[in-house]
Amino acid sequence: MRKKPQTFTRNKEYARVLQRETIERCLRHKLGRLAYFGLPSSSLNDVKAWQDIVESFVAVERGEEGKEWELQHDLQLEAFRAQLFTRIILMRGDIDSVILKGKDISNNILHYPFDVISLDYSGGLFYKDRKGTFLRLRAISAAIAAQGKKHADFVLLISCNLSAIDQGEVKNTIENIRTDLTRYGASADQVINSYQKHQRNEVRLKLYVPYLVNQAAAKNHYYCETQQVVFYSGNQDVSMMMFRFCLKFDARTESLRSPKERLSQIINKPMIQIENGLPMETNLQLPKLALLEESRKANA
Ligand SMILES: C[S@@+](CC[C@H](N)C(=O)[O-])C[C@H]1O[C@@H](n2cnc3c(N)ncnc32)[C@H](O)[C@@H]1O
Repeated sequence: MRKKPQTFTRNKEYARVLQRETIERCLRHKLGRLAYFGLPSSSLNDVKAWQDIVESFVAVERGEEGKEWELQHDLQLEAFRAQLFTRIILMRGDIDSVILKGKDISNNILHYPFDVISLDYSGGLFYKDRKGTFLRLRAISAAIAAQGKKHADFVLLISCNLSAIDQGEVKNTIENIRTDLTRYGASADQVINSYQKHQRNEVRLKLYVPYLVNQAAAKNHYYCETQQVVFYSGNQDVSMMMFRFCLKFDARTESLRSPKERLSQIINKPMIQIENGLPMETNLQLPKLALLEESRKANA
């Protein structure tokens, strides 16, 4: 084993509890037989915490540059030590590339579908390739599309830090949200202005990421339910966010439906802040969107 095993905070431990709650709620009928695809790290903490509800794990690990084999080797050793070796398949390389190419660096093929996809990134979401394509965001949409081809209901978990946020991309998307809301008659200006002006990036990502996932979901015949968005301090006090989505396949009509989950629902759900390993609901002083029925009643 390496001298330093990968370790995580109490906050992260609680985030895993919340993720488990989502899995249990969304995939109740299949617990014990679930298939996982994601980033468990060489400590396998999520694998161990969920081993009674998840049957098989496809674990991707890229390792550290120049010594990639170390973490990959540690992951397999830990799987062996925890008697989970026969339930874990290791894929090597970057998970975005595995999703986009459908195989890992050793040409092992990625076989969909999965019940739980956990994109538990150590970095930010706005990673771009040389051509300026948002590779990570593309990979998220590609994973949803691949699951959709198999008509699979699943839980999508995304964790990221707040580094290198593309402010233009986020703010422009929030302007699109303003337009969508206004189109349906909601008076969104005060609320959207508060999100755009807020000093914390967490509030804008609270809208951006669910909007992105909802759009990709709708394109692939999914109904997407966004769970309360979570934020916390991770290792070295890095600001982290965690998103949970329950995606249900619905192909009743060939023509696509617009996202069924209302933007107002996403906006008005308070966030969960985890501090010292404990959760607390917070709106971060943001106003709520008045629902049309409510404002009609108030003006009557
Ligand atoms: C945040 S940890 C995962 C923690 C784990 N899910 C848990 O609940 O404890 C991320 C792990 O995936 C690896 N990793 C991060 N980003 C990756 C990527 N884009 N592709 C492949 N591996 C990655 C890191 O080396 C690390 O071991």
